Amino acid sequence: MTTTAAIRVADLSKDYRGTRAVDSVSFDVPHGSITGFLGPNGAGKSTTLRMLVGLTEPTGGSATVLGRRYTELLNPGRRVGVLLDASAQHSGRTGLEILRLGAMMMGLPDRRAEEMIEKVGLSKAESRRRTGTYSLGMRQRLGVAHALLGDPKVLILDEPANGLDPAGIHWMRTLLKEFADDGGSVLLSSHLLHEIEVVADDLVVIGRGRIVARGSKNDLLAGSGVYVRSTDDEGLAAGMRAVGVGFTDHPDGGFTVGAEAEHIANIAAAAGITLRELRADDEAGLEQLFLRLTADDAREDVKS
Ligand SMILES: Nc1ncnc2c1ncn2[C@@H]1O[C@H](COP(=O)(O)OP(=O)(O)O)[C@@H](O)[C@H]1O
Ligand SMILES: [Mg+2]
Repeated sequence: MTTTAAIRVADLSKDYRGTRAVDSVSFDVPHGSITGFLGPNGAGKSTTLRMLVGLTEPTGGSATVLGRRYTELLNPGRRVGVLLDASAQHSGRTGLEILRLGAMMMGLPDRRAEEMIEKVGLSKAESRRRTGTYSLGMRQRLGVAHALLGDPKVLILDEPANGLDPAGIHWMRTLLKEFADDGGSVLLSSHLLHEIEVVADDLVVIGRGRIVARGSKNDLLAGSGVYVRSTDDEGLAAGMRAVGVGFTDHPDGGFTVGAEAEHIANIAAAAGITLRELRADDEAGLEQLFLRLTADDAREDVKS
């Protein structure tokens, strides 16, 4: 089935001792594209990804990869490559040993390990060092090699650019683009907008456990933000989503939308919704939204 999304997250929630770390999160990752999962530290990205791959039990909701729950996939490494925590590798083993073990468990030949070492730009000598001596950047490369071992169709990567130098970030972007150009689907998280905006086709922005924006990157980054408020904001949101218009929640209610005012008016009219306000908003846009999210978080840190 290629019509359904590669990854589908439906209404996922997670409570930790009474606090809601993830709150009704829903989004799709389409086939053959890269979705950036963006949010400040503590927003709920890792928890969402851990629920997606069955490492954390959700309080509510569900998620599927290639149409099934991750834990129900047969030989999942051959279908989905996962990198959640690059430092989780056994520090006493060499990079090559870790990959050979992975290859063995997936029923792949030994040489696949060497090929992946080469693909991620680790040298032969580096691959024969214990990973306890690796820099974070080298661990990320090894983690990506591990994720790619089984030639999967889907990649799920949590902050893979952490610890990479600019050349490493460039390398990662090229690799992910090639992967998606070959029909693969990628979900990668980051707490830095600029790290992800070059490579992503779609963006899902999370703040304090909730999705605050999602849509195509071009729509979300569209400079000409329009502010809209209506008698039925939920209905308007559904209407905009249905036609693929990107928008973000505005702190005063209503939305900031990356589309022409006339287009928004037409969507509202088609849904029988009356607009209360519709105007250009120069303070709008993803950058501003992200700054607000990050600032909220920084204030929270000072308090606690
Ligand atoms: N195992 C856990 N027990 C309790 N709280 C947790 C646990 N894991 C994450 N949290 C909390 O859930 C929230 C989201 O964390 P996380 O998903 O790691 O965010 P992100 O990856 O976006 O930085 C944070 O407030 C974090 O402290
Ligand atoms: Mg995280």
